[in-house]
Amino acid sequence: MIKKPYNCPVLEHFYVFEGLDGAGTTTQAQLLVQTIHRDGHAVDLDHEPTDGPVGLHIRDILGHRGHADHHSLALLFAADRRSHMYDPDRGVVARHENGVRVVCDRYLPSSLAYQGVTCGFEQVIRFNGDLPVPMRLFFLDVPVSVCLDRLEGRNERELFEHETFLVETLSVYEAALEHMAAQGSTVYRIDGTQTVEEVHREVCRYLD
Ligand code: TYD
Repeated sequence: MIKKPYNCPVLEHFYVFEGLDGAGTTTQAQLLVQTIHRDGHAVDLDHEPTDGPVGLHIRDILGHRGHADHHSLALLFAADRRSHMYDPDRGVVARHENGVRVVCDRYLPSSLAYQGVTCGFEQVIRFNGDLPVPMRLFFLDVPVSVCLDRLEGRNERELFEHETFLVETLSVYEAALEHMAAQGSTVYRIDGTQTVEEVHREVCRYLD
């Protein structure tokens, strides 16, 4: 773990994938886990929202089976994230200290971008204090129109899966990525309209 002179640690083997709904974060996170595993390292595949009680409650809200106002939802994401990072046994920080690499499908930048739209960027930063940051952050850059085409074949649209919202989210992602870079993450922007294999190869090139 590399300590920074300010705020929070940068976790060397914590890898985060970010992008709009439909950008391909889940597929790319899975592929990276397979590659790291093949290279002989212990590695976990995580995602946010998590499968913990708060994460499952968030999933209900996203799937229209529950309701929360925007600020409460932003706080739920922040609470889910804190326990994801700091749970003494299963948290990312604990596993990282035990030599386990963690690839995560979405993290803090998702809150900064999505809840940045609904609650304001600064408010989301306040809600998410003192969190470690990944040394490597992969942003899959995909135009909103392509994301919407990809989402077309899936089940019912979730809470944020609408054109106007995704357009705004994409613009706030710029500030989110800048914030992460200022906190010590190296941000890799990848053209997510390439094939799955091409995107994965590009990710692997950055890891070499
Ligand atoms: P995701 O897991 O990518 O969707 P799917 O269920 O299709 O695999 O993410 C769920 C949704 O939650 C997505 O619209 C992004 C949103 N989200 C936030 O708004 N804030 C957050 O902090 C996180 C982690 C996700």
